[in-house]
Amino acid sequence: METVRGIIVLLHLVGFALLLGSWAVEAFKRRARITAMMQWGMTTALVTGLALAAPWGLEHELNYMKIGIKLVVLLVIAALLGVGGARQRRTVSIPVTLFWSVGVLTIVNAAIAVLV
Ligand code: HEM
Repeated sequence: METVRGIIVLLHLVGFALLLGSWAVEAFKRRARITAMMQWGMTTALVTGLALAAPWGLEHELNYMKIGIKLVVLLVIAALLGVGGARQRRTVSIPVTLFWSVGVLTIVNAAIAVLV
């Protein structure tokens, strides 16, 4: 059970890496764009995070306050990706603040995970 949980944590980190990595590629190229890879990363982090939120294969207590905050932050990221994705289908670019919020909130969630 512990090994299965470890694999889900690994997939959770893969989702995080896809989201932040694909966002960083666009930021580096000075393109404020939402990509399909960001959506995949966010969805992977959400699904695996929800699976990890159940107390199985654990030797320690879960911090539900921390998990709840991470869920809210991720839902805000999901909304930004949804709004940004829909907007860029109509216009070429999206507001720079919306694009940067995705990256900053992703880092905030990682910081909450490891620092709180
Ligand atoms: C962009 C969004 C997210 C990022 C960057 C992120 C990041 C991380 C990281 C780095 C870890 C490993 C460190 C640790 O175990 O404390 C982790 C674990 C975990 N995450 Fe996330 N996470 C995100 C979203 C979520 C969501 C939406 C949920 C639940 C609804 C969630 C629930 C969990 C749980 C339950 C663990 C394992 C904690 C434990 O076993 O003590 N995460 N997350």
